[in-house]
Amino acid sequence: MLEKIKEIREAMQQELQTAESAGQLRDLKVKYLGKKGSISELSKSMGKLSPEERPQAGQLVNELRCLLEENLEAKQKEIAAKAMQARLAAEQLDVTLPGAPVKMGTKHPLTLVVDEIKDIFLGMGYTVAEGPQVELDYYNFERMNLPADHPARDMQDSFYIDARRLLRTHTSPVQARVMDQMRPQYPIKIIAPGAVYRRDDDATHSPMFHQVEGLVVDENISLADLKGTLLNFVRQMFGEDREIRLRPSFFPFTEPSVEVDISCMLCGGEGCRTCKNTGWIEILGAGIVHPNVLEMSGYDSEKVTGFAFGFGVERIAMLKYGIDDLRVMFENDVRFLQKF
Ligand code: DAH
Repeated sequence: MLEKIKEIREAMQQELQTAESAGQLRDLKVKYLGKKGSISELSKSMGKLSPEERPQAGQLVNELRCLLEENLEAKQKEIAAKAMQARLAAEQLDVTLPGAPVKMGTKHPLTLVVDEIKDIFLGMGYTVAEGPQVELDYYNFERMNLPADHPARDMQDSFYIDARRLLRTHTSPVQARVMDQMRPQYPIKIIAPGAVYRRDDDATHSPMFHQVEGLVVDENISLADLKGTLLNFVRQMFGEDREIRLRPSFFPFTEPSVEVDISCMLCGGEGCRTCKNTGWIEILGAGIVHPNVLEMSGYDSEKVTGFAFGFGVERIAMLKYGIDDLRVMFENDVRFLQKF
């Protein structure tokens, strides 16, 4: 028996030494410690020994088992370390190489246009205000001097959330929200860009689109201030040789109200397809803030006056970039977006 243990021990050490892979180690483990492995067999045959021989043989078999387990583990680590070293050598990692370039996106044309609009008005001393897109009926209509029976309040035109709230149909309610915050202070000079919602959907109307609202409240504000401001804006946006013209119009929240046209940037006013041969393109609504709107916002309409304007960002972007179908703005086709 002792002879046999010695034999197995020598063979085992020999095999451990020459093992070179994790697979070979696994085989060794099975060969010696598996159900029919030589060490297991030794343990089983222990019963045949005499009681005097048993303790010494038992100890030797145990030692053998420990020896194998320790060696297997050490060898395992050695093999893993070698494999890692081989991989590192093969990879020849050069940490000074430049990284793989990250594909950069570009700003959406609407963002570009809004950024430019903000820049122009910031340059004129305006600040940027914001209001909620889920708006109270109260701000969207009532505070904008739209009486309860006004056709624009019809459920058909708007996305209502519940009886009191809707997706705002224009950015004008931001006027009232800003005045609520500012009163009784003035001057107020803000623009309010943001998304608005209406039940419209065709080549030039989308159920979601963007507007920029403008509001100035101060003493002695007149239509001349409005016209000068808009002329400055239009020339920075569309070129120094643009002209504007004001036509009488109606909005419940302004009195008087005007519609503002710019001289066509394509034909320079001669008449073409874009301006429908008139030489003029309508771009926005504006006017002198209605006294009711000022009073509802806590301002004395005898003391201060104001002007306001509102325009569609998509329309400005379409004119600026020569886009004739508004829907491409919201389709996320990278072939379109990459042009900007
Ligand atoms: N809120 C109007 C609309 O959505 C646009 C507008 C017209 C805004 C005249 C104004 C304004 O501030 O004075 O069509």
